[in-house]
Amino acid sequence: MIKNKRQAKYISPSILSADFTNMKKDLLSCERGGANFIHMDVMDGHFVPNISFGVPVIRSLRAASALPFDTHLMIENPEQYAEAFIDAGSNYLTFHVEASQNPKSLLQFIRSKGAKAGLSLRPSTHLKELIPYLREVDLILVMTVEPGFGGQEFMESQLGKIQELHTLREKHELEFFISVDGGINLQTGRLAVDAGADCLVAGSFVFKNNAVSALQELRNLPL
Ligand code: DX5
Ligand code: ZN
Repeated sequence: MIKNKRQAKYISPSILSADFTNMKKDLLSCERGGANFIHMDVMDGHFVPNISFGVPVIRSLRAASALPFDTHLMIENPEQYAEAFIDAGSNYLTFHVEASQNPKSLLQFIRSKGAKAGLSLRPSTHLKELIPYLREVDLILVMTVEPGFGGQEFMESQLGKIQELHTLREKHELEFFISVDGGINLQTGRLAVDAGADCLVAGSFVFKNNAVSALQELRNLPL
């Protein structure tokens, strides 16, 4: 445990729970609420049992927000689509270690295209799967729900991964930031930050409430 209570460095609202008939308004609320990124959840109906949106939607939304796009690919064969998601305006591109044949080369490819590279893992995947790539990543996205749907309950069983990543980063002087995705609210956000998280991804908590104030509350988690 980190001794001094701290706050999240970054907040990344997931538009999966936003109002799809009025995205411009919700993107503006994210800016007003002080969000650092916009989290884009891309689902293909294969890697996860749900389909969300893809390249054309991200490309259109790009014109409606000045914030960096933090795209989370929950798709099989991310190699085939990475370039299109970067060209569409993703500043950060995160894929799942379980979905890639060669994570190292994909991380290097993403960086070579001028984007930041992220790696994520399902709750059931052991952290050791990520160890070979810790020098190649700009962010690690720890899933605290089974990927596929918004609105699920935070899995406290994943807090150990966050702590371990935090320790590894200190020990080996690594540079990635730790992002946490799934079931984040004021209480679970506090648990994640206390465990060592730098970035909170939140969908339902932001968009099922007043987005501007929810974002401000996440920024100032109760101590
Ligand atoms: C789940 C997605 C999450 C999700 C978070 O597969 O990766 O980003 O939208 O939503 P909440 O905050 O509702 O758990
Ligand atoms: Zn996500």
